[in-house]
Amino acid sequence: MSNDPKEPLLLDHNYDGIQELDNKLPRWWVWLFYITIIYAAVYLVYFHVTRSGELQEAEYASEMKAGEQIKAAAMGKFEASIATIQPSTDAAVLESGKQTYVKYCAPCHRVDGGGLVGPNLTDDYWIHGNTYPDSVKVIWDGVPAKGMITWKTVLKPDEIQAVASYIYTLRGAKLLSPGKLPENQLPAKPAGASQFE
Ligand code: HEC
Repeated sequence: MSNDPKEPLLLDHNYDGIQELDNKLPRWWVWLFYITIIYAAVYLVYFHVTRSGELQEAEYASEMKAGEQIKAAAMGKFEASIATIQPSTDAAVLESGKQTYVKYCAPCHRVDGGGLVGPNLTDDYWIHGNTYPDSVKVIWDGVPAKGMITWKTVLKPDEIQAVASYIYTLRGAKLLSPGKLPENQLPAKPAGASQFE
């Protein structure tokens, strides 16, 4: 504590016995304070005067736009591959496909694929074709007029591939109770797994 009379530590006012100490602020603290002032000035000019930087809302919009482009590219790529797509036999993929199926598809197609509102997925009768790409396409686009949801806006391409691969394994499955009756004629030449072979 300095007792320099030119820089008194104890200020000379006195209110009902309460006095004030004029402690010097630590230099590092004062510098931090100056830096925040300089920072605020730079911030103001950068974001609000020259408008060089994107504010949160604009930044959000441009990130969303970039995300949409990535999504559209991935969806376009998957859509182009549907014609030649093959079912996955990977156990992890089938397991995740099963989870998606139980969560989203079972309410309409029954847990075992026997069919409820939606058609039986285990028999040889297909409304929209019996090949694997046919199934992927129906799941991808849906049949909104008939109550089959368009899943491309809900599930990611790899989730659709996984769930389609899973239902492919249900073909010819032995059902615990009779499944929904056929809603279409047998295809002329059944391809793929068949319970009648
Ligand atoms: C809201 C009920 C509903 C849900 C949920 C649903 N579906 Fe469907 N699905 C249907 C209906 C109804 C049809 C028949 C459409 C038609 O008659 O053209 C169908 C048709 C299909 C077909 C074509 C069957 C054929 O005979 O050609 C496949 C494959 C299919 N669904 C798979 C799925 C998968 C996979 C899911 C889950 C991601 C799912 N569905 C969820 C109602 C549903």
